[in-house]
Amino acid sequence: MLCLGIETSCDETAVALCDDGRPVAEKLASQIDVHALFGGVVPELASREHLRRMGPLLRALFTETGLGLADVDALAVARGPGLLGSLLIGLATAKALALGAGKPLIGVDHLHAHLMAAAIGRDVPYPALGLLVSGGHTQIMLLRSALDIAVLGRTLDDAAGEAFDKAAKSLNLPYPGGVYIDALGRDIEAERGLFPRPFLDNRNLDFSFSGLKTAVATYVAAHSELRLDVMPSPGGPIDPLDWPMAMRKVCAALNFAIADTLRVKMERALDARDTGPVRALLAAGGVAANSRIREMLTDLTARRGLPLFLPQPKLCADNATMIAATGCLLGRAGLTHGLDLDAVPRGRK
Ligand code: KG4
Ligand code: ZN
Repeated sequence: MLCLGIETSCDETAVALCDDGRPVAEKLASQIDVHALFGGVVPELASREHLRRMGPLLRALFTETGLGLADVDALAVARGPGLLGSLLIGLATAKALALGAGKPLIGVDHLHAHLMAAAIGRDVPYPALGLLVSGGHTQIMLLRSALDIAVLGRTLDDAAGEAFDKAAKSLNLPYPGGVYIDALGRDIEAERGLFPRPFLDNRNLDFSFSGLKTAVATYVAAHSELRLDVMPSPGGPIDPLDWPMAMRKVCAALNFAIADTLRVKMERALDARDTGPVRALLAAGGVAANSRIREMLTDLTARRGLPLFLPQPKLCADNATMIAATGCLLGRAGLTHGLDLDAVPRGRK
């Protein structure tokens, strides 16, 4: 089954083809340069950028692969969660193509697709425990199979990615700052008590990261050497040696605080009686590209004797390959939608 995937839930416009779950090609246009000027995603600008870029990306995808709409067996599209105006551009495009070509339409849950990015080209043994860490979401999930997923815990306020991005903003680092915090904190011994590991003093699997941004902002306010006037231009290569050691230490401590908070709740989920024994661990989402978090997960699964499934770094962030691959899974199971498919901006419960 050749599936065309369309992703427009936030600030990446992307289209991709997967053949029976195997990636064929992807065209992606990032809007980071547009939103970086505002320090965060501006929803109306995002929708306009999706509209402007969608047509040329589709044309480029078909030109590069030598394939056309006639070769496609199904149209898969991210239906949420995400920004409503942005989702509508993807949905309208997918519906038009499905109607024009007489092919089935498949609405894909964006968070499900993130997790499935970890399974691309691999045989995951189920049940598995999933960790989804992105700019908008932080969830622990139980995957009874690739298509039967229950949310065990979620953030009550900010997502892990937001904690990274807001802390980066306090440090005057470019948006989105997670990748800077990751790089600057690498190869430095983290001072473990510098920042709190929030919301561990309970028995649940939920998260609350909003206090971390206050902790970092308070620390930065008390240490003027941490506020650099000159911001590097976003998107350029990051060399940690260009940055003061004080800044790198803050980043290392923050990477530790977030990674270790995730570790404690994942261990708790693995030990929970109602989770039952799982056979693998999957992690996905933009924040799963973080090197400290990848190290933590590698160590955790080695100790527990579980295989770890992580997407390649470029498939951690938003992309359309994960939508197309999940579309193949759903399509093969006969799960398609009508042309009245709706956007679900707040996601499924
Ligand atoms: O999954 P994603 O691309 O978009 C959403 O669906 O939200 O995740 C974006 C988030 C941003 O908060 C970004 O700062 C964070 O992922 N991120 C990272 C890293 N790379 C991206 N956070 C920490 N370390 C990284 N290496
Ligand atoms: Zn995402």
